[in-house]
Order: sequence, then structure tokens, then C-alpha cells
Amino acid sequence: MSDTVLIFGATSAMALHTARNFAAQHANLALAGRDRQRLEALAEDLKIRGAQQVEIFPGFDAEDETTILKTVEAAWKSLETIRHVLIAYGTLPDQSKAESDAAVLRSAVEVNYFSVAGLCHAVADRMLEQGSGTLSVISSVAGLRGRQSNYVYGSAKGGLNLFLQGLRNRLHPKGIRVLTLLPGFVDTPMTRDVPKGPLFISAEKAGSLIHKAMTRKKADVVYVPGFWRVIMTVIRSIPEPVFKKLKL
Ligand SMILES: NC(=O)c1ccc[n+]([C@@H]2O[C@H](COP(=O)([O-])OP(=O)(O)OC[C@H]3O[C@@H](n4cnc5c(N)ncnc54)[C@H](OP(=O)(O)O)[C@@H]3O)[C@@H](O)[C@H]2O)c1
Repeated sequence: MSDTVLIFGATSAMALHTARNFAAQHANLALAGRDRQRLEALAEDLKIRGAQQVEIFPGFDAEDETTILKTVEAAWKSLETIRHVLIAYGTLPDQSKAESDAAVLRSAVEVNYFSVAGLCHAVADRMLEQGSGTLSVISSVAGLRGRQSNYVYGSAKGGLNLFLQGLRNRLHPKGIRVLTLLPGFVDTPMTRDVPKGPLFISAEKAGSLIHKAMTRKKADVVYVPGFWRVIMTVIRSIPEPVFKKLKL
């Protein structure tokens, strides 16, 4: 039987390329996101690429809790058993605006941490009922050390990393896998204004690595790509008295 994969934030560039890898394996795909037209176009693309069935769930907005719960309910009602859930949405706030505008700060934490945590709990309940499943969440290496250039985004992702660690600890005995994905720099609309350097990878490459981590590996935490494990080990080992003087 084909795998069923439900993606929240399906219009994200990384999600799109992950979904294309699942489509090539003739998976059943379910796409949740804000915009109906974009989801419809995405569904057509995935069908052409081999997806067995594609269902869309428009109107999913991370800043509106009712749409989160409604989407989870509608997806399970329609699909019954869902093997993989990928949570891929996120926002990269303007750090300087978040320092002076509490609404920007709150929205960044709401979208990147709070809504994801609530969604994970709702998904966990369904996976506990079905007795299996893999919940994969795109976090970020930015959550592994606070830097002056993006610590608002980083702290939301850092909180998410800890949340997922605890959730994994809770769900592991029940046979449910929680996968934390930690991309470094990926060339997507989110990083449109970030100057590109040699550490950047394409969204296509990230999608292929994410698909591999979701389907083939047993790992709990996967860096995308793997060299970020080395970079972050070095960055995390810098003593705070030195780190606070660096312009990062
Ligand atoms: N790009 C990077 O370098 C990088 C690095 C590390 C981690 N990440 C993480 O990777 C994930 C995917 O990002 P991406 O790089 O693929 O960026 P992207 O292409 O810009 O996608 C961002 C996605 O988030 C969705 N979104 C934003 N606010 C939302 C809300 N309130 N409700 C529902 N959906 C919302 C967008 O939906 P719409 O299409 O409706 O706008 C879009 O699907 C994010 O979690 C991001 O934090 C990215």
C-alpha cells in the first residue's frame, strides 16, 4: 500500500521538493496551506510526477488556532491513516523590527514555535490513536545558538528543538517517531534577501535530503545537509565570553 503523507506549509519551497520525491514513489499526498490556488497548482504538479492521489486542505493559517485543529480533523477524517506528517511552514522575521515591535516578536514566536507545538500535540493524539506514524518537523540550526542577527527566530526554533526532544521522549515507547530536521542555509523565498555564499544549498537538494531522512533513516535529529553538524559543534563549543564579542 502507498504511504500517505500530510504536509503543513506545503507551499514552502523545501516542502514542495520533498513532496516531489514522495510523488515519484507514488505516495498519496495531502497538502495543507493558506492559499487554495497555490495548493491546486501544486497538486497538479505532484500528480504529473507520479503521486497516486493528492488532496488539498486550504485555509490552514498558523496564526489561527481553529484552522489548525480543523485541518487535523478534516485530514484524518478523509485519509483515516497517515504514515508521515511533515510540518514545514515558518517565517523569518526582520530581527531589528522584532526588537522594537512586540507584534512582530509575538508573530514570530506564534508561527515558529507556539502553533507548531499545538499542531504537534494534535497530530500526536491522532498517531497515538492509529498506533504508528512519523512526525517530521523542519526546525533550524539557528535554534542551536543565539546570535545578534537573528535571535528572535533562533529562540523560537531553539524552543521548538527542546519541545520535539521532549515529545520524542514521550512518543517513542508508543512506536511513534519524531524527527527534527535542522537545515542550514537553503535558497528559498524565505532567504531571498540573504546574500548567497558557499554554504547555501538549493531547495531541491534540501527536499531530497529531507525525503531521505523521513523514509530511510532511523535518526532522530538530521542536519540538512550533514556538514552542519560539524559547523554547529564548533559554533556551540565557543565559550560564551568569546562568543559575545563576535559579530554574528
Ligand atoms: N530557507 C532557509 O535557509 C531555512 C533554514 C533553516 C530552516 N528553515 C525552515 O524551513 C521551513 C521551510 O521554509 P522555506 O525556506 O521552504 O521557506 P518558504 O519557501 O518561504 O516557505 C515558507 C512557508 O511558510 C508558510 N507560512 C508562513 N506563515 C504562515 C502562516 N501564518 N500559516 C501557514 N503557513 C505559513 C508559507 O505559506 P504561504 O505560501 O501561504 O506564504 C510557506 O509555505 C521553515 O520552517 C523555515 O523556518 C529555512
